[in-house]
Amino acid sequence: MTKTAAIIGGGVIGGGWAARFLLNGWNVRVFDPDPEAGRKIGAVLDNARRSLPGLGNVALPAEGQLSWHATIAEAVEGADWVQESVPERLELKQKVYGELQQHVGQGAVIGSSTSGYKPSQLQDGFANAAQIVVAHPFNPVYLMPLVEVVTTEANTPEVIAKAKEIITGIGMYPLHLKKEIDAHVADRFLEAVWREALWLVKDGIATTEEIDNAIRYGFGIRWAQMGLFETYRVAGGEAGMKHFLAQFGPCLSWPWTKLMDVPEYNDELVELIAGQSDAQSGQYSIRELERIRDDNLVGIMRALGANDWGAGALQNAHDAARMGEAGLARSMAEVDDITQPVQTLNRVVPLDWTDYNGHMTESRYLDAFAQSTDRLMEIIGCDAEYIANGGSYFTAETHIRHLDEVHAGDPIQVRTRVILGQGKKMHLWHEMFSGERLLATGEHMLLHVDLKTRRSAPPAPHVEANLVALAEAHAALPAPDGLGRAIGASR
Ligand SMILES: NC(=O)c1ccc[n+]([C@@H]2O[C@H](COP(=O)([O-])OP(=O)(O)OC[C@H]3O[C@@H](n4cnc5c(N)ncnc54)[C@H](O)[C@@H]3O)[C@@H](O)[C@H]2O)c1
Repeated sequence: MTKTAAIIGGGVIGGGWAARFLLNGWNVRVFDPDPEAGRKIGAVLDNARRSLPGLGNVALPAEGQLSWHATIAEAVEGADWVQESVPERLELKQKVYGELQQHVGQGAVIGSSTSGYKPSQLQDGFANAAQIVVAHPFNPVYLMPLVEVVTTEANTPEVIAKAKEIITGIGMYPLHLKKEIDAHVADRFLEAVWREALWLVKDGIATTEEIDNAIRYGFGIRWAQMGLFETYRVAGGEAGMKHFLAQFGPCLSWPWTKLMDVPEYNDELVELIAGQSDAQSGQYSIRELERIRDDNLVGIMRALGANDWGAGALQNAHDAARMGEAGLARSMAEVDDITQPVQTLNRVVPLDWTDYNGHMTESRYLDAFAQSTDRLMEIIGCDAEYIANGGSYFTAETHIRHLDEVHAGDPIQVRTRVILGQGKKMHLWHEMFSGERLLATGEHMLLHVDLKTRRSAPPAPHVEANLVALAEAHAALPAPDGLGRAIGASR
């Protein structure tokens, strides 16, 4: 059954939550008194629709319904999750919680996006305190997976479990803090970096651009893939973390950090920082910067996914959880009807698959077909465990026909036929569609290989039996148009 999220406050963050829920199939009901809120959420949604669906390798569910409501009471009707993202002022938030207390159903979780307040400050005095948790996201909420979940003794284990389950279900990562603390974990950390950066600019050591370069050409790339401690463990060399601490521990008493000492906030500091920031980035509009940011985030997370690491591994787990709903089988038993071509890919063309012509670049057709071949291999039993035990299929020959173009954000599906599956040979015919439009065909000959000798060898009997079963069932279908064609051959 479609679930419903109520979004109270639809600015930068509320809009991002709305997009995250909507694109994961939830109905979304918004309350925001600003007459401009519709336009603002529309802009966030445009960015989200452009970048999120292609982030993973499995299609998301159909979008939910977005609706606007004139009051909080109406917006929270039937909501399973309420996300409060009003401006960061405690008295305003408490006023909103006063209203939520009267109208939110008992089974719902109320999450606050607050960057700084503790959950006890939001729960204070409200009869439904058990329902209120901090669910602190990161901008852009539709792409960044982290949500800091902060709770108190007032929250029941059921509410906490439900909060984590829902956050995981929309492709995010709930980091449940052991205790509440002002500004949670990640913002404490960012604040320390921010303080040092302000000093470095104020003291004329580096400009805003040079500081950004110090991050993005150096430690920022490391942090995105291993964080802080694992990075330093590697930096300690073979002797590991203890050696690293011994080497750099004494620095803790050196004047490397200004700790809690902050520069005075005044017009001069604002002019200095804002002026340098304009010089650095003023040639781009905010919309352009958002899109560059999103393209980069998608590219980085997809690269991490290829190594099943960090934020990429998280996305892969979300993809795996979605396979059944997306119509992708993992075994013969899960194939609906073996007499028909098997669906082996159901995804959206990601942002990083397009080229200077503005459409999916040729090498990605092979990438997509290779993903389909991998899926078929898993279905017949040539899965990770089988491969680890020394058997696999290697591609010997490929012929791709590019019949129609497709763009980033478009859905693509591949349906696969087994033309021959006997002995060492696996002859596959993939057809790639967007809806009913045929985009490409891929004909592939693969050979089963013994990974120890790297030479062709017969597959295990159960793998061959599954392949033969598919080949025999598919033989009853009319021969595919274009099968066996060479380049230049006429139809
Ligand atoms: N901007 C960030 O990077 C970021 C990141 C994580 C969390 N947060 C937190 O998210 C919350 C919202 O921040 P933002 O950056 O989206 O601010 P924002 O100013 O972009 O959005 C706030 C929205 O709330 C609306 N609003 C005001 N009063 C309201 C009311 N009574 N009921 C419903 N809506 C109301 C405003 O019209 C506006 O659209 C804050 O608590 C902030 O700390 C911000």
